[in-house]
Amino acid sequence: MNFAEPVRVLPDEAAVESFAAALAAVLPRPFVIYLSGDLGTGKTTFARALIRSLGYRGRVKSPTYGLLESYRLPGRTVLHLDLYRIESPAEIEYLALPDLFGDDGLLLVEWPERGEGFLPAPDLELRFDYDGAGRVVALSARTGAARDRVRALQQGFDK
Ligand SMILES: Nc1ncnc2c1ncn2[C@@H]1O[C@H](COP(=O)(O)OP(=O)(O)OP(=O)(O)O)[C@@H](O)[C@H]1O
Ligand SMILES: [Mg+2]
Repeated sequence: MNFAEPVRVLPDEAAVESFAAALAAVLPRPFVIYLSGDLGTGKTTFARALIRSLGYRGRVKSPTYGLLESYRLPGRTVLHLDLYRIESPAEIEYLALPDLFGDDGLLLVEWPERGEGFLPAPDLELRFDYDGAGRVVALSARTGAARDRVRALQQGFDK
């Protein structure tokens, strides 16, 4: 048995788009994804690709300044949080996430470690890192629902 975490190599943004599209196609509702990784490792790029794969055609802004951007899509509400600039996790309480995040919710959180104790638990953690001129992402499923999806995705990954 292989216990290694699945890793996906993302040499360019086109690879991010196909990874996001593959994930979007199997995403349950509700679902929480933590997006970890250093500055510039591609968290927003991935979130943007995922939101667009789910059918959003407008501009997906980085929520770095606004903290939260939300998207009402047919059958799904996406909340995209970026906690890089928060000074205290209590700022998250003002967002009233439990009121916004319902049964059809997808929550994407950049810099989740800055909101520890104030966020819903993740189904899936994606950890982005530099890899030459591209990026690499490690997938950690935290719930049964996520594990099934990651396994399905992994079968489609390049060897
Ligand atoms: N797989 C990739 N290959 C090459 N370049 C990428 C890839 N993913 C993202 N980039 C580029 O990296 C830069 C930073 O991306 P992005 O803003 O998504 O990072 P981030 O992790 O959200 O950063 P921050 O921590 O500041 O929020 C952008 O110029 C983007 O085009
Ligand atoms: Mg970002």
